[in-house]
Amino acid sequence: MPAEQIKRQIANTFGNASSSYDGSARLQRFSGELLLSNLPKKSESVVLDLGCGTGYFADVLATQFNHVIGLDLSKEMLNFSNLNRNDKINWLNADIHSIPLMDNSVDIVFSNLAIQWCDPLTDAFAEIKRILKPDGVFIFSSLLDGTLFELKQSWLSVDTDKHVIDFSKLNDIEKSLHVSGLSISELEQQPVVLDYENVKHLAKELKNLGASKVPKRTRKGLSGKDSWKKMTQAYDGYLTEQGAYPATYQLCTGMVVNNHE
Ligand SMILES: C[S@@+](CC[C@H](N)C(=O)[O-])C[C@H]1O[C@@H](n2cnc3c(N)ncnc32)[C@H](O)[C@@H]1O
Repeated sequence: MPAEQIKRQIANTFGNASSSYDGSARLQRFSGELLLSNLPKKSESVVLDLGCGTGYFADVLATQFNHVIGLDLSKEMLNFSNLNRNDKINWLNADIHSIPLMDNSVDIVFSNLAIQWCDPLTDAFAEIKRILKPDGVFIFSSLLDGTLFELKQSWLSVDTDKHVIDFSKLNDIEKSLHVSGLSISELEQQPVVLDYENVKHLAKELKNLGASKVPKRTRKGLSGKDSWKKMTQAYDGYLTEQGAYPATYQLCTGMVVNNHE
């Protein structure tokens, strides 16, 4: 599928989830809070929230910084943000791969669980480096290979189609950061396991988050009753003693600096 079509699909999927998103964003809240605790405390900074979604964290950033910009591919997400968040935030409907801001114009780039949608990652990092001021910082979270492995494995008992997006390995992110010329201060991986009442609950949460559609999926219509039943039976194998359905997210958090050349 051409890159522009994939991006339109990502924007539409997230756009359709804009009103249900905040109610299902448990993982996003957790990782975003981790990032906030690492932010430099300079209130006059220009801060850009890349892939801001419903603007929840842009809104928090606006309580600490004077100039906050929220950027997202989805117009619907930004419409929601514009209606519900701090008036002083500027909203930009744009692509992380082509940020409509001047070179050396941003002090802090904050990005919570958005860059896993960027392909190629090196282009996204090059853009981030371009807009960062010297000594500016990029603080981000993303998801890594192994995320939703229970769901992936359960679907494999049904067919070999792609039901979960591919996630990078930590090493790929590290290499892409090196290529971009950004210096790594911290780069970590940690598993976060969330419990669900059943597989339907997990699927609903992924849908509410706009993360249920797989851009490069090769075939359609596989969620028929029989395949769903077979998949959920396979997922029963992961049931915990407490009767919960676990889903593992491999969370990557990083802080990088745009050092002087
Ligand atoms: C999982 S949501 C995270 C939203 C928000 N950062 C939060 O913490 O709740 C990912 C967001 O990234 C946006 N996104 C995905 N690819 C993008 C791209 N190439 N450029 C800009 N935004 C993008 C989506 O539209 C979506 O709103």
